[in-house]
Amino acid sequence: MKKNIVLCGFMGSGKSTVGKLLAEKMGRRLIDTDAYIVKKENMPISRIFAEKGEEYFRACETQVCKELSLLSGCIISTGGGTLLREENAAEIKKNGIVFLLDVDADAVLSRIGNDTSRPLLQREDKETALKTLMSQRMPLYNRAADYVVNAAVPPWHVCGRIIDIYNSVS
Ligand code: S3P
Repeated sequence: MKKNIVLCGFMGSGKSTVGKLLAEKMGRRLIDTDAYIVKKENMPISRIFAEKGEEYFRACETQVCKELSLLSGCIISTGGGTLLREENAAEIKKNGIVFLLDVDADAVLSRIGNDTSRPLLQREDKETALKTLMSQRMPLYNRAADYVVNAAVPPWHVCGRIIDIYNSVS
């Protein structure tokens, strides 16, 4: 059974872009956990957070990980909070190899600093909030990851590196 390629990392680390490139290059199905939840719940993430709360969204993520662990040979791009829960990471790793896209806070800020679709970043002290959240999360991403890939380089480069690693271990 072909293992899934699972991308994890902070918001703005390039998971969606790299995921699309990987799917195109490898001819595989792409599943984005955020898009999966939006479709299932029939409302944007910002509304799920506002109307149902973050805990509800996190429960959706856990359910999605259970469903996706049954698939094989897919590219799975996860939301920035998905693999923080050990339970979720354990599920997705049943048939997936997890790659952490590693970027620093400055790169994230320049990529998504003006984005309004991410509820966790809608604050005045965005830079401090982002840096605090990132320093709390990095150890958890590292715990979930099988491989860490530098994502401060162009997406096609990240994509190539992931394919090389994947091919060498599967
Ligand atoms: C979140 C990241 C978002 C989305 C939600 C929560 C997080 O996904 O799942 O806004 O907790 O980091 P991206 O990482 O794709 O932005």
